[in-house]
Amino acid sequence: MCGIVGYIGKNNKALEVLISGLQQLEYRGYDSAGIAYIDNEKLNIIRSKGKIANLEKIINFDDKSNIGIGHTRWATHGEPSELNAHPHKCGKITIVHNGIIENYEELKNELLKYGYEFKSDTDTEVACALLDFLYNQENDILSAIKIFKEKVQGAYAINLICDDDFDCIYAIKKNSPLIIGVGENENFVASDVPAILNYTNKYIQLDDGEFAKITSDSIILYNKNNELVKKDIKEFHEKAEDMEKGNYDYYMEKEIHEQPEVIRKMTNEYIGSDMPDISNYKKIVIVACGSAMHAGLIGKNLIEEYSNIPVEVDIASEFRYGKLFIDKDTLVIAISQSGETADTLEAVKIAKSKGCDTLGIVNAYGSSIAREVSNVCYTKAGREIAVATTKAYSAQVTLLSFLAYNVAKTSKNKEDLCKISSFLSDLNKLPIIMDSILDNSLYKEIANILYDKNHIFFIGRGIDYALCMEGSLKLKEISYIHSEAYPAGELKHGTISLIDNGTPVIGIVTDEKIASKTISNLKEVKARGANAICIATDNINLGEDFYDKKIIIPKVNPMLEPIITILPLQKIAFEVAKLKDCPIDQPKNLAKSVTVE
Ligand code: F6R
Repeated sequence: MCGIVGYIGKNNKALEVLISGLQQLEYRGYDSAGIAYIDNEKLNIIRSKGKIANLEKIINFDDKSNIGIGHTRWATHGEPSELNAHPHKCGKITIVHNGIIENYEELKNELLKYGYEFKSDTDTEVACALLDFLYNQENDILSAIKIFKEKVQGAYAINLICDDDFDCIYAIKKNSPLIIGVGENENFVASDVPAILNYTNKYIQLDDGEFAKITSDSIILYNKNNELVKKDIKEFHEKAEDMEKGNYDYYMEKEIHEQPEVIRKMTNEYIGSDMPDISNYKKIVIVACGSAMHAGLIGKNLIEEYSNIPVEVDIASEFRYGKLFIDKDTLVIAISQSGETADTLEAVKIAKSKGCDTLGIVNAYGSSIAREVSNVCYTKAGREIAVATTKAYSAQVTLLSFLAYNVAKTSKNKEDLCKISSFLSDLNKLPIIMDSILDNSLYKEIANILYDKNHIFFIGRGIDYALCMEGSLKLKEISYIHSEAYPAGELKHGTISLIDNGTPVIGIVTDEKIASKTISNLKEVKARGANAICIATDNINLGEDFYDKKIIIPKVNPMLEPIITILPLQKIAFEVAKLKDCPIDQPKNLAKSVTVE
């Protein structure tokens, strides 16, 4: 959420690095952007509303600069506007900031008494004024930062330039990601790897409470106790090409089509090798948000069915508010693509404080959640850039299915063993099956039915309902059509009153045992004028053909079925959004990584 980049070097590259870095981070927020840079001993600040393309138009690229900081924003305090865009400058201090300063009102009231005036609605301007105030008081920026850390509550990743020293950038981190990119006679500070990938693959990870003074050829680090500290320089192995769209027009499209390869990679990595043993816990609690939570619901179905351990799925942002029945016999599984989702991270910390073991199912290497949990399984989906998740979601489902399979295969019960007998052979076939499901012209035809509708419903039972939730989220987030997922049997307890002539209802039917019931529910809505679209596996007897459209997918082992059933739903959402000419990779109001609570 929000992207930060900073550069200090010797070859007048600052403007180029800042803009290319911000472009790479745009998925983190895109309602306004800005940069501050030094040219001829003068600090320039340029900001604009909207995407980075707007900012680029007003930058004079003839300016020569060796130092600068930049920001792409996802508004938290104050509307998206030039005035609220970062960088903010107060007195001698200029900053860009990610995160939320929770006690900013109290700090602002204090600073008003000292004559500070505020032009924006942001908490960031308050942080900036506080740093200026402390700097004036202390006459030393490092002392000012130390006191700042004591006074400020909340989350912050900050890049700072001080008017009295244009030869360095300061970086400060708490509860919001920040890395320092290490180059030759140049250094970088960024909230995420893609910002610096074109320039270096070496980085230092800042931990909470740490800060740094960075020049073109030195990095001085301080730990949370403000003591000088040395940290390892790490290397990341991603390549700049991995961030490109390849032959696709959209990242989301590319990522949807990468899924067969992701499953292949995960099979090679995990099957036959040691995975965490979840069988010894009395209870499992899954914490996650959004699509990751939907993956968790699939995991609940699979783990309960095949390992007989009770599983509870909690929306991470709600986790701390209820009474928690967790202890050392509970495994808390945190699922997160970014590994930075503030609510999920907080839930992990709470679980640890209650003595639980924690397992992370995480995509981003070295991310905060990956570092916080006691054990981590990476989903190996590769970097996901489209804001709406696809390949990371299916990788999460795959990993949960592997965890359930690992318990199931040790069962002494013949019936249980029989249920998983086709698991491995079907898993090996999965990538080819997935490719064939993705290659279907029906998605465009269905998109033509859906794109001008105001409301769409998804219905299913059991695991199919969990898939409906993900299909519905995908559709609404990228196509802006209101949709809802309903357990098929629940429809007639109220929602069916919304069904009118032509209301699309998409039914998912993959479980033979309950198929006839969902089919009956589809008939009920059809009888009330709905447009009935059915996605079913090829073993299901769909009965009389009343459907407006049907997509038939192969039946595979039930533990693997969700991985392929989601594909039509992703494709339908994508085609609808494309038909509506929506900004598919960066839907309005959203951001890729939600680092605020
Ligand atoms: C929807 C989507 C979000 C994320 C959610 C959690 O397409 O991407 O709902 O799933 O914000 O994010 P992570 O997985 O990064 O914790």
